[in-house]
Amino acid sequence: MDKIEEQKELWRKRAQRYNNLEWVKKSNVLQAFMLVGNFDKDHVVLDAGCGTGKVLGTVAPYVKEVHGVDISEEMLSQIDLSSIPNAKVSVGDIGNLDYPDNFFDRITVRLVLHHILDDDDLMRVLKELYRVLKPNGKIIVSEGVPPHEDVKKDYEEVFKLKEKRRVFMPEDLVRLLKRAGFRHIRVNIIIDEHMSVRNWLENAGDLDEETIEKIYNMHKFASPRFKEVYNLVDKGDDILIDVKVALVTGIK
Ligand SMILES: C[S@@+](CC[C@H](N)C(=O)[O-])C[C@H]1O[C@@H](n2cnc3c(N)ncnc32)[C@H](O)[C@@H]1O
Repeated sequence: MDKIEEQKELWRKRAQRYNNLEWVKKSNVLQAFMLVGNFDKDHVVLDAGCGTGKVLGTVAPYVKEVHGVDISEEMLSQIDLSSIPNAKVSVGDIGNLDYPDNFFDRITVRLVLHHILDDDDLMRVLKELYRVLKPNGKIIVSEGVPPHEDVKKDYEEVFKLKEKRRVFMPEDLVRLLKRAGFRHIRVNIIIDEHMSVRNWLENAGDLDEETIEKIYNMHKFASPRFKEVYNLVDKGDDILIDVKVALVTGIK
């Protein structure tokens, strides 16, 4: 199976439960997109790897048009397009977009880049996004990041059980955007407080019971430092943690 087919297969399994995930709809990251995006009613926006359209649906009322592109038909099918009249969605690879140069005023990319495992593919995606963005247009990239350098290894261990992925620190995202040609790069850090570990694991969509318990217990029996930087609270039937999200913006 090639890499794109593997991603399609992954999201085919995850699509059904995706919108139950607390962090997908949590408003502070979505609000942060609005704050740093400086959207305007004349803007044409691309939501790259739009999935079930939460970012797309948040931005749409404030702009002229929003285009969503995603490789997963199943994720796209979760979008209620009747409630977003100025949205156009299509199935496609964001590393090879069917748009002319300098087309979009803004590009949003939430939680997509960590799924692009090959370095060359990742740079191809970022350069493709650069190509379709207008000069002086803005890209807004958002990724979950370890809460502190001290627990990066633990973070990697937790996610290794869940999926094949990249782990970014905010400075990695800055470096990548710079290499792709973006300038005036800025990092904004958002904390999603008191996120349920159970909600996250049970709605992942493709984890068996054993893996869910293993990851849960990695939190329950974590080191004091891990618990401290995650502000971890053990409620008995659930564990709550503060999740750190980086929103990195760049200008073409
Ligand atoms: C974690 S979901 C994020 C969805 C959405 N951006 C959000 O914030 O809820 C990752 C999405 O990236 C999509 N994706 C991964 N690689 C892609 C690619 N090369 N081209 C287009 N979409 C891709 C997946 O299909 C999936 O819908």
